[in-house]
Amino acid sequence: MADTLGLAIIGTGTIANAHMRSLEKHAPARVLAIYDVLQDRAEAFAKRWNIASVATDLDAVLGRSDIDAVIVSTPPFAHMGPTIAALEAGKHVLCEKPFAFDPAEAQLMTETAERTGKYLAVASARQRCGAATRKAQELASNGSLGDVYHVRSSAFRFRGRPGIDILRDTHWFIDYARAGGGALIDIGVYQIDVLLWLLGNPKVISVLCSTKMGIGDPAPAPLVQDVEDHAVVMFTCEGGKSGILEITWSSNVANADQLMVFGTKAGLKFGPLTMVAPGPYNKLRPVEQKVLDVADGETAGFGDVSQQFVDAVLAGREPYTPARHALEVTRVMDAAYRSAKTGHAVALD
Ligand SMILES: NC(=O)c1ccc[n+]([C@@H]2O[C@H](COP(=O)([O-])OP(=O)(O)OC[C@H]3O[C@@H](n4cnc5c(N)ncnc54)[C@H](O)[C@@H]3O)[C@@H](O)[C@H]2O)c1
Repeated sequence: MADTLGLAIIGTGTIANAHMRSLEKHAPARVLAIYDVLQDRAEAFAKRWNIASVATDLDAVLGRSDIDAVIVSTPPFAHMGPTIAALEAGKHVLCEKPFAFDPAEAQLMTETAERTGKYLAVASARQRCGAATRKAQELASNGSLGDVYHVRSSAFRFRGRPGIDILRDTHWFIDYARAGGGALIDIGVYQIDVLLWLLGNPKVISVLCSTKMGIGDPAPAPLVQDVEDHAVVMFTCEGGKSGILEITWSSNVANADQLMVFGTKAGLKFGPLTMVAPGPYNKLRPVEQKVLDVADGETAGFGDVSQQFVDAVLAGREPYTPARHALEVTRVMDAAYRSAKTGHAVALD
């Protein structure tokens, strides 16, 4: 096994800086080259992070034999192109979330990874990398909770619309043509990924969704927001399993996030991670609540997806969120948006 992994970063904006903050603390990672369609942005990034090579086109990066893997951190409309090109060039890929605009794109990306035999990890796995979420998944999958039949997540931002309230210079987030949607596709991807993972990735058979735009002040002119602030999704799966998600960029409720796992023997809630089960049988049948000892037990928080990717590729094992799982998340997301248009549940085959 090699000791280090040669990396390139495609797209050098906000999240690329977050990847660098984590990779520079991770000895096996070597970021050797970067590329951005905006050359001055790439130059500034290279200076900030002391990276020797700024490529002037994608092929110049992908042609290098010392680059084993690529992090695609472009906006959603530019995920598929660099991802497929990198896989075809024999590189492993960590693609930012949302994986793809629609299931057709996601399918093509997944099949390319499988055909080329390269790992394709997706950053919608961030929550899978958190210690509390990993512990919950271990308990859900090893039978400690019984049959896990339902999961639910509520995540409410008070005022957190990217491009308006936060990340004010990054306007593609509120533009349907470039982002593919609003709160649901931007941050709901994390929740749908983790809910399906905690259920054991069953096949989803139907999706019902409602969305709402226009919560809070409108985007200041000349900006136009044509994506949702709020979404509620319910999905049902084979085996009688189900999930519910409430996700917002903008709402008038704050500090009320929840993630819960319901099993036939025991349940879990987060913040801190707590197992809930009936106590010894007597007339009162008391509830037993046991706070579990995990490093980031306070939240179902984000883990370090880029460090985990580097370690997995070097060890020759599948990173978190294999592309097949991200494809399923994309199918659910796409069905949710179709359901929101009609108000009726959408069946998935
Ligand atoms: N900003 C965040 O907090 C955050 C958090 C998690 C995930 N993400 C995801 O990361 C991705 C990037 O988001 P961001 O906030 O860094 O955006 P950004 O706009 O700050 O940066 C994107 C960069 O990609 C470059 N780019 C666009 N098309 C390109 C192409 N075809 N080839 C090379 N470079 C190209 C742009 O010039 C820009 O520098 C998105 O998918 C987003 O959902 C962002």
